[in-house]
This record gives sequence, C-alpha cells and structure tokens, in this order.
Amino acid sequence: MEPIVISTWKHGLAANEAAWKVLARGGKSLDAVEEGVKVSEADPNVINVGYGGLPDATGKVTLDASIMGPDGLAGSVVFLEHIKHPISVARLVMEKTEHVMLAGEGALAFALENGFQKEDLLTPRSRERWLRWREDMEGDEDRLGILMESHDTIGMLAMDKKGDLAGACTTSGVAYKVRGRVGDTPIIGAGLFVDNEVGAAAGTGRGELILQICGSFFIVEKMREGASPQAACEAAVHRILKLREKGQIKNPEGPTFQAGFVAVNKKGEYGAASIQKGFPHALCVNGKNDLIESKYFLND
Ligand code: GLY
Repeated sequence: MEPIVISTWKHGLAANEAAWKVLARGGKSLDAVEEGVKVSEADPNVINVGYGGLPDATGKVTLDASIMGPDGLAGSVVFLEHIKHPISVARLVMEKTEHVMLAGEGALAFALENGFQKEDLLTPRSRERWLRWREDMEGDEDRLGILMESHDTIGMLAMDKKGDLAGACTTSGVAYKVRGRVGDTPIIGAGLFVDNEVGAAAGTGRGELILQICGSFFIVEKMREGASPQAACEAAVHRILKLREKGQIKNPEGPTFQAGFVAVNKKGEYGAASIQKGFPHALCVNGKNDLIESKYFLND
C-alpha cells in the first residue's frame, strides 16, 4: 500500500514530516503517529499541546492523550501533569497494562515509574497569556469555562506500507478550563478511533461537541456502512449541527463553536470537515506534505 498520514491544523505539517520518516523506511503506522505527534508536544509554540500548552483556570498545565493501533488495542491518559510526552505514556498504558486509561496522579506515578521525567510545562509565554486572561476575568467568575481560547489539538492518522492503520491524539485541552475538565482527546471513540478493517478518525476543536456525538466512532461506523471518509466526516459535522438545532449544545455561537474531523479508510482514501471556516489539515501522500483547508458548513 501507499503510506499516508493526515493530521489536524498547521502544526500537523511538522508532525507529518516526522511520521513520514517512519513510514518511508517501512516502519509501522503506530510508531509513525507516536513520533509525529511528539513534535507538536515538544514545540513550545504550539500552545494547545504538551510543553507550552495553555493551562487550566488555576494556571496548571494538564494533558490528555490517546493512541490506538491496528490490533484494536488502545491506551490513554487524562489529567496528566508534568510529562512532556503524554502520547508515549498512553502507548505504555496500552502495551504494559491491562487497562486502557489512566488518570491524574496515577497516570503521573505510572509515567515516573517507567522512566519519564517530571518537567515544568508552563512556558513564560503561556503563563503570561494566562495572567492576562485572569486579569480580564476578575469579578466575572461566572464566565469561567465559557471564555475559552481556540484549541488546536493534534489528531493524526497513518497507514503504513502493510496497509495497517493507527492514530494518535494529544492536547492540553481548552485553555483556562475548569480544573479537572477533560475533553474528547483521551476518550476512545470520541477524539480517536481506529478499526483496521474499516478506517480511522480523529477529532479536534471543542471537545464537548465531539464527546456529545462520539465523533470518531461515529465516523468509522459511517465508513463501515460504506460512506467515504469525506462523507463520514461531513456526517459528523451535520450531527453536531442537528444537536444545535435541537438546542442541545451549550454556547453554540462564536469562534469556539468549532470542531473538525479527519478520517482515512482501508483503501487509503481520506477526508476532513469542520463546522466553521479555518480548520486546515495536513496531508502527506507520496512524501508530499500539504496544508489544505477543510470543507466547512457555517459562515460560507
Ligand atoms: N479537543 C480537545 C479538547 O477539547 O480538549
């Protein structure tokens, strides 16, 4: 098969490059997605993922990540602090434990036991932004968790030369979130789902929207029924818009009413769609890595 890697947002381009290196030398899709998203996790300029991620309302960086491979196994971590590469901890959860998900202190202890180093993930730049946000919020705590910045989680899907699919998703979550809030990213079936017989999907944007429709599982099931990856991603967006029509979405206006999806199927076809304009995806096929604006359904 011709390998392929697709990921979310502009920072997906650099992540794709690292993933492609693994795929081009005949490596496994699972290794490719881990190596790929680690680039975003390590980049302090990517303020929604890993090191440099914007903190929660109390100024603490808490990370969520999930990974899923062609054998149908999955691993994830939620509310993990101080570890720069939560995706690698998620992979260890998958490979070294009988569990799928570890949370908070337990996830941190597991990471430290397995050789990860404790680090301060709050960069001066992210701290500065958080302090500014806190100043703006003063006297208006009712808005906590509502005035959120954008959230450019990286979700990455890859197919290797053997035709095996894998995916990874990693985030610091919604900026200035209520402490303890967890989004779609570490939830298997919401932020990420892989079925090696059918296809794979990943989500990004406001996690609550994706959680409400089990977005990635929904897309993979659509593909199982015969939808193309593009049609399946669009169906997920329409499902969210339907909830909005029914009044079942909190805060359904403005720039934070945004979710985007990417998908690939077993034939190596791909798709991407979002609610609003402004969700690019990075696609690497034949070693050619391009940033492409995704189809959207509001504001056009
Ligand atoms: N999509 C990431 C989050 O909402 O936490």
